[in-house]
Amino acid sequence: MASLKTVLCLGVCLSAWIITTADEAATFKAENLRWFSLDFKTILKWTTKPSGHKYTVTYSSNGGDWLDCPDCTKMSDSECELTNYLKPYDSTYTVKVQTNPLIEQEDDDPDEFPHANSLPFNPYRESNISAVVFTVETVNQRSVNVSITDPLTSIHRRGEQLSIRDVFKNDLKYKISYYKSGSTGKRENISDSSTIQLSGLDAGQSYCFMVAAFIPSRPKATQQGAWSIRQCTPGDGNILQELSLGTWVGIAFILLTVLITIVTVTVLCCRCCRQRNTYQSSAPV
Ligand SMILES: *[C@@H]1O[C@H](CO)[C@@H](O)[C@H](O)[C@H]1NC(C)=O
Ligand SMILES: *[C@@H]1O[C@H](CO)[C@@H](O)[C@H](O)[C@H]1NC(C)=O
Ligand SMILES: *[C@@H]1O[C@H](CO)[C@@H](O)[C@H](O)[C@H]1NC(C)=O
Repeated sequence: MASLKTVLCLGVCLSAWIITTADEAATFKAENLRWFSLDFKTILKWTTKPSGHKYTVTYSSNGGDWLDCPDCTKMSDSECELTNYLKPYDSTYTVKVQTNPLIEQEDDDPDEFPHANSLPFNPYRESNISAVVFTVETVNQRSVNVSITDPLTSIHRRGEQLSIRDVFKNDLKYKISYYKSGSTGKRENISDSSTIQLSGLDAGQSYCFMVAAFIPSRPKATQQGAWSIRQCTPGDGNILQELSLGTWVGIAFILLTVLITIVTVTVLCCRCCRQRNTYQSSAPV
């Protein structure tokens, strides 16, 4: 009789404990799942409350089966790099982050573990593109060649690191924004190729150029990569034409200060002299 009681008690305790651990895991569900993707290096990050739980990541393409990420199985980190799993790139992926129970049972069904799903993500359409590096070469008085180095992605194929040109092919364009040094009127040109000859420039003028990758087939928000740093060509040495508005304001300010100082000093001196003269003339003889 006593032993039956013990068994019963044990059973009740055990089921209570299992329920508690399941609840426990539920409170440690992954939260704030966010995608970070630059040049096709794609990472999913999430936040967790501190606990000893491990997390397991699976992913699905276009609503298909959940596939394993061997690198992100039962791990304590709160991020998972998915660069090498999300292939083909032009497909929409959803990621599931499951919270593993603290103590796992033989007959646990992972489908019943608490989990959180990411928003859908398409690397080809949404991965950010970093700023490009380029050179500007003067061809003649009125034209320059702009040569852009296609940025490399984190994608490797047959041991070779692919550039954004290898991935986007003809979908890749470049946007070139340029302006005459010291003026605010910007001109823009969109090019299919990575080397562009720009003509119709004013002879002898200094021009400044900025370049960004541009993928018109993408949604508006992700069409344009980051702007490069600015590069300027030297003008023909006419220094007055090359000064920026800021410099002109500076020069005007200095001239004005000098002028005011001269006027003030002159006025003070004159007043001084006049007073001295007045004293002298009014002094008793
Ligand atoms: C792309 O860059 C923008 C601006 O910095 C950022 O808000 C966005 O989260 C980035 N997207 C991805 C997928 O990394
Ligand atoms: C400028 O670019 C054009 C066409 O891309 C090329 O034919 C030419 O040789 C280049 N000139 C210089 C000076 O690099
Ligand atoms: C870009 O430059 C080329 C050559 O200079 C020119 O033919 C073309 O019209 C320009 N495109 C735009 C959008 O300004």
